[in-house]
Amino acid sequence: MSTPEPENGNDFRDLQLLIRSHVPILVVETHDENRAREMMTRLAIRETLPLFVWTVTEGLQRLGFGEVPAAEALLEPEAMLKAIKAQRERGLYVLCDLHPYLSEPRLVRLLKDVALRYRELGHTLVLLSHRLDIPPELTRLAARVALSLPDEEEIMAIVREEARRWQEANGGRRVRTDNRTLAQLTRSLRGLTHADCRRLVRNAIFDDGSITESALPEMNRAKFELMDLDGVLSFEYRTEQFADVAGVSRLRAWLEQRREAATATGTPEVDRPRGVLLLGVQGAGKSLSARAIAGAWGLPLLRLDMGALYNKYIGETERNLRESLRSAELMAPCVLWLDEIEKGIGTAESDEGVSRRVLGSLLTWMAEQRGGVFVVATANDVSLLPPELLRKGRFDEIFFVDLPDEDTRAEIFRIHLRRRGVASEGIDVGALAAASEGFAGAEIEQVVVSARYRAAAAQQPLDSAHLATEIRATVPLSVTMAERMDALRRWAAGRTVPAN
Ligand SMILES: Nc1ncnc2c1ncn2[C@@H]1O[C@H](COP(=O)(O)OP(=O)(O)O)[C@@H](O)[C@H]1O
Ligand SMILES: [Mg+2]
Repeated sequence: MSTPEPENGNDFRDLQLLIRSHVPILVVETHDENRAREMMTRLAIRETLPLFVWTVTEGLQRLGFGEVPAAEALLEPEAMLKAIKAQRERGLYVLCDLHPYLSEPRLVRLLKDVALRYRELGHTLVLLSHRLDIPPELTRLAARVALSLPDEEEIMAIVREEARRWQEANGGRRVRTDNRTLAQLTRSLRGLTHADCRRLVRNAIFDDGSITESALPEMNRAKFELMDLDGVLSFEYRTEQFADVAGVSRLRAWLEQRREAATATGTPEVDRPRGVLLLGVQGAGKSLSARAIAGAWGLPLLRLDMGALYNKYIGETERNLRESLRSAELMAPCVLWLDEIEKGIGTAESDEGVSRRVLGSLLTWMAEQRGGVFVVATANDVSLLPPELLRKGRFDEIFFVDLPDEDTRAEIFRIHLRRRGVASEGIDVGALAAASEGFAGAEIEQVVVSARYRAAAAQQPLDSAHLATEIRATVPLSVTMAERMDALRRWAAGRTVPAN
């Protein structure tokens, strides 16, 4: 019987091939050091090479049998490299965390010495760190090896193994879960290393011996944190359900039709929905709807802060954007939310074309990406949006979110009363809806909030009169900004689809 194929046979074979083809320096960038070291150990055995591992805390250690060099003396990278250079016996040297030293000319020289004398010494140096910037004088002597991340099948194997462990440790009790959750789980764990997958799965099971849907948001957030992003993209814990969004029935129906295609991993790339633009008046529920899309589809919600994109590191805007988009792809399937997109890609001329280029990068990415990132952009002001963004085919659809009609206003009152634990039975919601013509959802919410304060101050239960008073005291934006709203509505007619 043959031994089972070790995890990721391909990585193993790649490394073996490189060693056999006499590449003197292998560059292994990974967060999963244990797995890489374990693989190097197997390789050393297979190739019958002595294996040495160096870390700054332990010095150079020979693994397995053979004479042990004076480890204490070799804590310093320079001493260590000199010792390797002097070592006559051919060997495989795994050097962990050498990355901070790669800017020191003497060390680079020593690495180069060892590498250039490969014919004579036959040493293979393996640089192993989470991130390695190889100085140019070494690049021709080095080969990068990207350890592959586990695919869904491997993730499934990890889940099964952890479930079995839990069962063994808990008197044979089985881990409770269901297929749908398992499928979502494996999808969420893509993009993580073997070790991280295992840790997250173990945490999820450990709590109560189950993997349920409620564990998924936490899992997604943990994954997001592990990916170590730079603050331009944020993980939004709070998603919403469409039950709490009044109106937007057309948007909902559109989304419902695409749910399967957006969330399943098996969808052919060309058929994947790519995104929507929600355009409309302020306070009408665009941001709320963006959250509800993620909630309805059960996908993680990532928000790209257009302001931070520009401000965080001056001059690195484009890189920030590229990295954010790449990170979003690693979180896929997910919803990427660009709130008030006009603020980030305004047509400002003062920024030396940066916002032009940012827009260009964004558009290219949107046109090309098929990786399961669904973009939800919102905008209040179309006059600030460059026409390229609005051209057909960028977004799957542009929805116009208008002010709520009377029925929708009644619904918004009910939602916000319910949210605050006020029974709407005793309240004449119909009359309030009629009296709040021209109010946006946000303004209705504000009416409810203020009326509750008013009632509390008078030590009375909230009633219709309190609400009606607040309505009369409010001048909605549709009045103060009537012209702008009209212009927006005129623009939207014929160019957009109504969301309501
Ligand atoms: N259609 C709606 N249904 C329920 N609540 C709404 C609606 N529109 C707005 N609101 C309330 O107003 C708040 C602000 O709305 P928001 O989504 O931020 O508006 P926009 O992004 O369009 O400016 C929401 O969080 C919600 O509480
Ligand atoms: Mg908003």
